[in-house]
Amino acid sequence: MKFQLFILLSALGTVTGQLDKLAKEAGLLYFGTAVDNPSLNNQNYLRIARDPAEFGSLTPANGQKWSNTQPSQGRFTYGSGDAIANIARQTGQQLRCHTLVWYNQLPGWVSSVYNRDQMQQIITAHIQNVAGHYKGRCYAWDVVNEAVEDDGRYRNNPMYRAMGVDYITHSFKVAQQTDPAARLYYNDFNIERCCNAKINATIAMIRTVKAAGAPVHGIGMQGHSRVGMSPSKREMKETMARFSELVDEVAFTEVDIRHTKLPIGAAERKQQGRDYMEVVGACLEMPKCVGITVWDFTDQYSWIPQQYPGEGEACLWDRNYNQKPAYQSIVALLQSAASAGLRTSATPAPVAAVMTVDEWAATVTAAA
Ligand code: XIL
Repeated sequence: MKFQLFILLSALGTVTGQLDKLAKEAGLLYFGTAVDNPSLNNQNYLRIARDPAEFGSLTPANGQKWSNTQPSQGRFTYGSGDAIANIARQTGQQLRCHTLVWYNQLPGWVSSVYNRDQMQQIITAHIQNVAGHYKGRCYAWDVVNEAVEDDGRYRNNPMYRAMGVDYITHSFKVAQQTDPAARLYYNDFNIERCCNAKINATIAMIRTVKAAGAPVHGIGMQGHSRVGMSPSKREMKETMARFSELVDEVAFTEVDIRHTKLPIGAAERKQQGRDYMEVVGACLEMPKCVGITVWDFTDQYSWIPQQYPGEGEACLWDRNYNQKPAYQSIVALLQSAASAGLRTSATPAPVAAVMTVDEWAATVTAAA
């Protein structure tokens, strides 16, 4: 009977997603996904990406990057970014905007600038134009992306070579002048597992630029990791506790958890479910964590196989749009957090009331 009802509702197209709906019920602001332009002509993809109950927030995976928005000096192009921003406008989904100043996907004409004043003018013009174009539409902007190396040094990128750490301060100031309503984030990878050299350096960097007047509201932990080797909830909570002393909010901004060896079996799928659950659990249990964005939701469009040949299947849906155990694990956790009132009631429910990774794993075994 239930099954027939499901078929009927599916046929009517009324079965909607649940990640964002449940995330909100559990007290988060959103559950979101990155969306890249090549996927926009795929109806199977769009049906999920445009469903606000599934994803309350969209992030252009590439469309707002420097190489797309100002490929040559003074020529601004917004087609790719707008294609995604316009979906969010139609559906009422929120936008997480990404990213203004980054050493990657940076056009050659910027990397060949060595003069401090010129670089400052170039950054100013870029942010004023791009953040100006999207003014009022971005819940948050990743203002500066990946400015610190794993060993804790500042990344020696063209902006740093021209201006030193002032490029970071300057970028945040211009972003705030341009779009005062946007939450301004510093965003990076490998800053999830407490507390490595990069995390310590990131904290020192945020202190430095805030002392110099940079309005940094949030820290984004990208959250790219590997099945079976990803950071534990405890480690991520420790990091977020330290970041929470510096900024108003934190978020997981680009989560994907890839298998390092393919093909995989049921045990690896289940482990991936556990690993995703640790991320979502860490966010739920930290008051300043506002939401989670996955770096695309289907293996069909994941960036992983290109970036890490031989690795992949990192997303919540497979390439045929079947939900994986990882999807189910997040749903189960969000449901139990919502009904336990973990973040919504005045007195948060004890963490023990929320489903544990092991309890979820037991349900998978039982069902298998
Ligand atoms: C990736 C995109 O997903 C790819 O399509 C592109 O080729 C390279 O960039 N950290 C970031 C994201 O901040 O912008 C990157 O996105 C993934 C790593």
